[in-house]
Amino acid sequence: MPKKNLWTKLIQPDTDNSNFRTLASSVERASTVTFPDVESLRKRNWRDENQYSYGLYGTPTTKRLERKLAMLEDAEHCILLPSGLAAISFVLLSLLKSGDRVLMPTNAYEPASDLGKHFQECFGIELAFYDPQQLDTVDITGNTRLLWVETPGSVSMEVADLPALCKLAHRHDVLVAVDATWAAGLALPVFKLGADISIQALTKYQSGGSDIMMGSVVTRDKNLHLRLLATHMRFGFGVSPEDCNIILRSLPHYRLRYQAQDVSARKIASWLKAHPAVKQVLHPALPGSPGHTIWQRDFSGAASLFSIIFQPHITQEKIDRCINALNLFRIGFSWGGSCSLVVPYDMKRTRQNWPHKGQLVRFYVGLEEVDDLIEDLDQALSLLQE
Ligand SMILES: Cc1ncc(COP(=O)(O)O)c(C=O)c1O
Repeated sequence: MPKKNLWTKLIQPDTDNSNFRTLASSVERASTVTFPDVESLRKRNWRDENQYSYGLYGTPTTKRLERKLAMLEDAEHCILLPSGLAAISFVLLSLLKSGDRVLMPTNAYEPASDLGKHFQECFGIELAFYDPQQLDTVDITGNTRLLWVETPGSVSMEVADLPALCKLAHRHDVLVAVDATWAAGLALPVFKLGADISIQALTKYQSGGSDIMMGSVVTRDKNLHLRLLATHMRFGFGVSPEDCNIILRSLPHYRLRYQAQDVSARKIASWLKAHPAVKQVLHPALPGSPGHTIWQRDFSGAASLFSIIFQPHITQEKIDRCINALNLFRIGFSWGGSCSLVVPYDMKRTRQNWPHKGQLVRFYVGLEEVDDLIEDLDQALSLLQE
């Protein structure tokens, strides 16, 4: 059989041997899974991806989604978790023990670095930060076990040099885990560039409806997967097959959404760049954004999530009024759905040595008509002149 394109394979329904043939994926729910005899029950093995033993450890629906997500990232294994943040905590929990050290970037998703601090305070796991823009700040000492990467940072948008970070970490036998949610399993070949673990918040583009929480942890290496799976087996992080099926329904067309929204977001980001109220646009695909040349080298597309820095003289009160005046961009966290979103961030609170004086506002561009979104921004930004 000729080798098929990844998307052709992903879109084709799974082969079905029954005489009910459909293109839809069915929802297999379970707590109890029954065994044909006692011998099969005794022979059950949680390490075997083809076996079913209990609802918590997977049903055909959850495994179907796991297979497709691993395939999308050109990897072998996938574990589903109840949210993106659960996927992050799950990796830290699986790979670190008391006395170990983890390196996190200063631009990590705030709840991830907060969790690192919690692990340090409560479980004796040392946490150190590095600047993702400066490789010489990556200080790998003897007991460092894990290098965390988020590229780009989902608020401050710096793109990290993933191949260089992986080379450096692997020289010291340190594992590299990447929160690659912005690239959504589409725009960054995480494993080809050297990473060991890819983390996705499926809550975003993969689910696409602003109504599902889920995360994934994808790996190539079987032993690493089994290490993670052992934690999964012990902690009981199950996901709903109904939710998996909703993501399976969305998966065949999420690439098209991602690409269309990328086009709209770049148009809006360029429009904002020329606006007198805006000091800087932090969008990895735009020249001048931190790590833009690395984005050009490593990425094949961009999420429709970016930030802007206002001119320093514009007060927070004025910016708040401007955000409140937006009609199409709704105020709220997360991203990946159809509707455009906006959130102001207080970077001085969360980031030491944050270099900008102006306020940061993050935009997520949805599927609305791009000119309507620009018109909405235009009327709201005009309030800054009053
Ligand atoms: C980069 C990144 N990783 C992880 C998460 C967590 O995902 P979830 O909201 O599914 O917990 C988020 C959420 O916004 C995120 O932006």
